[in-house]
Amino acid sequence: MLNIAPLKEEDIAAVVAIESLSFSAPKEEAIFKSDQNKYLVAREDGEIIGYIGVEKISGEIHVINMAVAPEHRNQGIGNKLMEKILNNIDVFFLEVRASNLAAQGLYEKFGFKKVGVRRRYYSNNGEDACLMRREPK
Ligand SMILES: CC(C)(COP(=O)(O)OP(=O)(O)OC[C@H]1O[C@@H](n2cnc3c(N)ncnc32)[C@H](O)[C@@H]1OP(=O)(O)O)[C@@H](O)C(=O)NCCC(=O)NCCS
Repeated sequence: MLNIAPLKEEDIAAVVAIESLSFSAPKEEAIFKSDQNKYLVAREDGEIIGYIGVEKISGEIHVINMAVAPEHRNQGIGNKLMEKILNNIDVFFLEVRASNLAAQGLYEKFGFKKVGVRRRYYSNNGEDACLMRREPK
């Protein structure tokens, strides 16, 4: 059964392992340690299989990042993580790589709209970010 709960210190290594399999410029362990209270993890049969991070910035909710372990993708875990953090009170926003169509598909499905581009936002390869925003319903 899938369980979604706050990130605990002992879960950080598993999150870092998924992060490095999921991103070309993965965040380091120290960042997850200092931002521990911003993250939720998805666990199935005791194994961490995904996570999502959110923070409040100027009264809006910023989705920092999310990932699902490669062998558990396309099974609805991303959907469950999004459902857990969204509400119909707050404005949500995020940046996503222009090339990341899977994530953009997920965000659009949940009502995020592309509202701008942050040019060369990703320093590892100079890729643009799409800025996406979701207004309360
Ligand atoms: C993006 C990611 C989190 C999606 O997680 P997931 O568990 O595979 O997603 P789900 O199975 O719940 O699918 C949710 C929706 O995402 C979209 N989606 C997922 N994979 C997709 C793909 N390969 N192409 C297009 N859309 C896709 C679909 O809209 C899908 O909706 P559906 O279930 O109605 O078809 C996952 O692919 C991932 O970890 N990618 C690497 C890290 C990453 O890119 N994170 C986002 C950074 S901004």
